[in-house]
Amino acid sequence: MDTSAYLKAHIRTVPDWPAPGVQFRDITPLLQDPKVFRVLIDAFVHRYMVRGLRPDVVAGLDARGFIIGAVLAYELGLGFVPIRKKGKLPYTTVQESYELEYGSATVELHADAVQAGERVLLIDDLIATGGTMLAGKRLLEKLGAHVLEGAAIVALPSLGGMQRLRDNGLALHTLVE
Ligand code: PRP
Ligand code: HPA
Repeated sequence: MDTSAYLKAHIRTVPDWPAPGVQFRDITPLLQDPKVFRVLIDAFVHRYMVRGLRPDVVAGLDARGFIIGAVLAYELGLGFVPIRKKGKLPYTTVQESYELEYGSATVELHADAVQAGERVLLIDDLIATGGTMLAGKRLLEKLGAHVLEGAAIVALPSLGGMQRLRDNGLALHTLVE
């Protein structure tokens, strides 16, 4: 079995959560099993150890992007910066708002979290509509950083997020669709 199929086999689908009609893709079984967790992290480590793809820093999206992003940064010998939901970061921040199905959300990044010209890997667990990752990209670019690519364990292509992100100039690397 290849890595993608192996990981996919360990993603749990929860019907009607958090709302009726939603098929929620739950990645927690990938983290819970030590063998699967290692395969998952190593898949990203191998990609970003390659010269040319090697980032200067890893930025993770709140909250599940922190779990894989921090471990990946540690393994690559890099620093990690959190992009948080509004109201959680204590120091001066830059902010970016984006639309949800109902209403809007805001994410924040410390203003000194990345330096102009730094090559950033932006990571999350999952891409649905792409709104969260696009907001993260914009935040990093506000500080003058270059987002090398967006990475996620899972993309849900039917929700259009991958296309939307590519249309906005973000290269993507996902392990499972
Ligand atoms: C989920 C997921 C991504 C985002 C994807 O996070 O972890 O961050 O939604 O959706 P999008 O592509 O449509 O923006 P959620 O907002 O549920 O937060 P959580 O990680 O704190 O549970
Ligand atoms: N799983 C996890 N996070 C999500 C999903 C999902 O199916 N859809 C939107 N965010």
